[in-house]
Amino acid sequence: MRFSLALATTVTLAMTAVTLAPASANAHATPNGPTAVGFGGAVSTVDATATAVGLDVLRRGGNAVDAAVAAAATLGVTEPFSAGIGGGGFFVYYDAKRHTVSTIDGRESGPATMTETTFIDPADGLPYDFQEARVSGLSAGTPGTLATWEAASRKWGTRPLGALLLPAAKVADRGFPVDATFRQQVADNAAQFAQFGSTSEIYLPGGAPPAVGSTLRNPDLADTYRLIARRGTGVFYRGPIGADIVRTVQHPPVDPTPSVPWAYPIRPGDLRMSDLAHYQVRYPAPTRSGYRGLTVYGMSTPSSGGTAVSEALNILEKTDLSKVTMTQALHRYLESSALSFADRNRYVGAYTPQPVLDKLISDGWASQRACQINPDRALTKPVPPGDINATGCTPAPVGGPVEQGQSTTNLTVADRWGNVVEYTLTIEQTGGNAMVVPGRGFLLNNELTDFNFTGTQGSAPDPNLPGPNKRPRSSMSPTIVLKDGKPFLAAGSPGGATIITTVLQILVNRIDLGMTLPEAMAAPRASQRNSPGIQAEPAFHQQYGPGLEALGHTFGPDVAELGAATAIEFTRHGGLIATAEPVRRGGGSAGVLWPRR
Ligand code: GLY
Repeated sequence: MRFSLALATTVTLAMTAVTLAPASANAHATPNGPTAVGFGGAVSTVDATATAVGLDVLRRGGNAVDAAVAAAATLGVTEPFSAGIGGGGFFVYYDAKRHTVSTIDGRESGPATMTETTFIDPADGLPYDFQEARVSGLSAGTPGTLATWEAASRKWGTRPLGALLLPAAKVADRGFPVDATFRQQVADNAAQFAQFGSTSEIYLPGGAPPAVGSTLRNPDLADTYRLIARRGTGVFYRGPIGADIVRTVQHPPVDPTPSVPWAYPIRPGDLRMSDLAHYQVRYPAPTRSGYRGLTVYGMSTPSSGGTAVSEALNILEKTDLSKVTMTQALHRYLESSALSFADRNRYVGAYTPQPVLDKLISDGWASQRACQINPDRALTKPVPPGDINATGCTPAPVGGPVEQGQSTTNLTVADRWGNVVEYTLTIEQTGGNAMVVPGRGFLLNNELTDFNFTGTQGSAPDPNLPGPNKRPRSSMSPTIVLKDGKPFLAAGSPGGATIITTVLQILVNRIDLGMTLPEAMAAPRASQRNSPGIQAEPAFHQQYGPGLEALGHTFGPDVAELGAATAIEFTRHGGLIATAEPVRRGGGSAGVLWPRR
């Protein structure tokens, strides 16, 4: 979302009066464009207000973690359909002093009573329709976002969490202007939102999506943030906010006379206070793999992002892409991605044993899979997964694609000390499960629909079936790339399962195909997730379709856009190139503390 610079500055200055020391009159930030070049720290998000808040924290001496948390809290206000304290996410952190990369798994978890058949209709034994499962209490997992912010700020930040929530509370109180992207997101979910009075009263004022240019306020969310700031996260996980979450899940606040009809019964879920009280973030070791002399760090399970990106890069590494035609480079990109997705679907879930994950991102495994790529002919999709116990070139039976929603958001932050945060957070579908917790102002996630409702692997076990306290597989791929032990690039994106291919494509564009980072971000995208038809943006299809079709690739229906990425490149002598989308999702917002003149 892109707002005017004037507004972003207003929000920044207004917010500082409440939270921190007096604002400097001269804001050095350039938070309104898709690219900013300079020094001293950088923030890139999808939204100018969130970027401005993050930059302000940096300007006042906060570090990258402080700025990331404050920006994420602001996205919970201005980007509420993609992320917020009703959801979860994955936080990747490069610590400049220790030269280490660490992660936080703040993924939502299923209730203790969840079973493999939670998404099977007992009436007919068939899986629920996706929308029926989504708009229900069954789909909401215990949110991990607030616990992530607390863990990150305690471990690595320099400001108390409460102070980092207050700028966002101020934005929620004062309001922000509705842009075309926001309005469209409401319009696309109007039927779902209309089922719940607590949601429609905020997002369907007068029964319709808010007008572009109108100011949207969310005082309930402002109060929620302030309550947490005053009393700590216990009010959420063990107190009154948690009780409201549980009530919403168990007794969805259904409007008895919705303005738009809904085709399905709205089913309750079984999330309990004990589920919230037992919730804990995890600190898994990041995935780590080499790529053309660089070291790529990503998110491990329950996300499949780190393993899938690394496996695809390892397969790609078998070819020097700078020495082949663009068609051949893209052919390899698409084939590597399909092979990697086949293995992800077969092997990766919350409980995949570490030796299997290690094997999937090993160079040896990449050779066993890369041998299938034929330079003259595209593989028939879906390709089967490899046999993890085989030696030599490995095909095996079964395997199929799994889709995920297009929601989610991403942010990238760097500070003057060289620390870096790459953070992807979500409530799953755009609008989550469509239920605003009454009186609390935030939407609940529908993350549990990221589980497979039934087995997808034929007679082989499916690693992503629901289970008690289990976290559903994700595709979120916050990625930090080091060169000679120092940050070179950090990138991430929303987009459900397309996250993996968007991050992969940005890396390949930048590292192999001679593009600058802004070019790598703006380039048209395509996603091959082991399905018969490539999902492509129209510009990609137009430009590269004929060459790829001649090799046997087939395209599915084009999609208007894939992803809404943010990224930062680290250049010599502390230089920063912060980038966001120029166009996708209405355009993003990148800013640096001290712009290069
Ligand atoms: N809900 C999107 C993901 O986790 O990948």
